Amino acid sequence: MARQQLIAGNWKMNGTRDALAFFQDIAPAAAASTSEILICPPATLVAAGAAACANSPVKIGGQDCHSETSGAHTGDISAVMLRDAGAEFVILGHSERRADHGESSALVARKAKAALEAGLVPVICVGESETERREGRAEALVAEQLAGSLPEASGEDYVIAYEPVWAIGTGLTASAEDIQAMHAFIRGRLEQGEATRLLYGGSVKPGNAAEIFSLPDVDGGLIGGASLKAEDFAAIINNTTV
Ligand code: 13P
Repeated sequence: MARQQLIAGNWKMNGTRDALAFFQDIAPAAAASTSEILICPPATLVAAGAAACANSPVKIGGQDCHSETSGAHTGDISAVMLRDAGAEFVILGHSERRADHGESSALVARKAKAALEAGLVPVICVGESETERREGRAEALVAEQLAGSLPEASGEDYVIAYEPVWAIGTGLTASAEDIQAMHAFIRGRLEQGEATRLLYGGSVKPGNAAEIFSLPDVDGGLIGGASLKAEDFAAIINNTTV
């Protein structure tokens, strides 16, 4: 079965309502693309983003969710709430959440289960640090994160994003050889490897996206900085549309 390419933007903690014009600006590129297009704005813009995309193929996702459906968890948002606000996907286990909030892989797995139960597609992030790569432990670390972070039930629809921590927001990208090798490694470890979409993330931009996304085991990208400017994100969509 052919895997549809997924081009996803992660706005991180950026954007207020004036950023909503972005959706109009990328609409032509998204409409002409054979890829699935996803934007994960901050939680405050999920509902407005979903409304702005009501007549376009662009989908909206959250950047995190709680593992419970509701309850006494001040400041948190559940998967059910994201779905209710119009989200269809949710990023989970991003390295910034693992670092800033001490999220363990076990917690990510519980969140992924909650997301699936709420009807969201989890985008589960894994990736090694610079030290782990230098010491030759990149594959071991990614294997450990995968084993711990995947939701229990098999046969579920989730996406994996491989984001080497040292490539995020640094302008450094992994080499095409290293990306392909890691993606093939990840695919080989998944129960439904051939059907699962694997995204690369880490300093993807208009100038390198087409090469990265053409690698056989790369099914699209998770894009941070270059997803904040409609012009850049549209260029990434246009350049990689086959
Ligand atoms: P950059 O594209 O800014 O490197 O961020 C990647 C990322 O963390 C996406 O989730």
